[in-house]
Amino acid sequence: MSGKLITFEGIEGSGKSTQIRLLSEYLESRKVGHLLTREPGGTRLGDQIRRHLLDAEEPGEIFPETELLLFLAVRAQHLREAVLPALDAGRVVLCDRYNDATLAYQGFGRGLPLTRIREIQRAAGIDRGPDLTLLLDMEVGPALERTRKRGDGAGGQSRFDREGEEFHRKVREGYLKIAESEPARVRRIDAARPINIVQGAIISIVNDFLDLGNTD
Ligand code: TYD
Repeated sequence: MSGKLITFEGIEGSGKSTQIRLLSEYLESRKVGHLLTREPGGTRLGDQIRRHLLDAEEPGEIFPETELLLFLAVRAQHLREAVLPALDAGRVVLCDRYNDATLAYQGFGRGLPLTRIREIQRAAGIDRGPDLTLLLDMEVGPALERTRKRGDGAGGQSRFDREGEEFHRKVREGYLKIAESEPARVRRIDAARPINIVQGAIISIVNDFLDLGNTD
């Protein structure tokens, strides 16, 4: 039986990476075979392209079309090399950001037409969509405040962290529109709540989705 692709989405500072790690630990404890991966990244080539995409010291402008094609190049490799083989082996794939990020950031954020993005994805054979998407949603102001605090820590600030509030507002609106248009797939989660409450909400959705039942 084919596995399931579960993606995590949200603006910077929404706590996605923490929550996806906690979900991975939970699946581990329930002995559910899974792959934890991310975009941009997930392969050696993808990690190399990731460095260029996120480098805040990049001296020249990266044009929106270039940015789009680099994210899609990462996906074309990631899907074939890691995601599809794991799904074919019946594993659950947890992916930190995926195709909705491209619509939200390059589409709604940078202003590239959504139809064109979808067409290029189709042409590149990367239109395998997620089975479930958890959208960690919160207001832009407090979310960016969190990323500023982590700015001195691991990884520092990326090219996207440095965009203004207006950009992140467009991205958030984009995510909310996607969620509205596909309510069965995209589940919006209020990410402004404490970590353990958000985690509980995610586990309950995933238990239902994977038919795991409750632990207690
Ligand atoms: P990352 O450091 O992983 O950010 P976060 O921890 O917030 O997920 O950086 C990934 C960045 O790449 C993030 O700012 C969103 C952006 N992105 C796009 O613009 N388009 C895409 O298709 C993907 C996958 C990510």
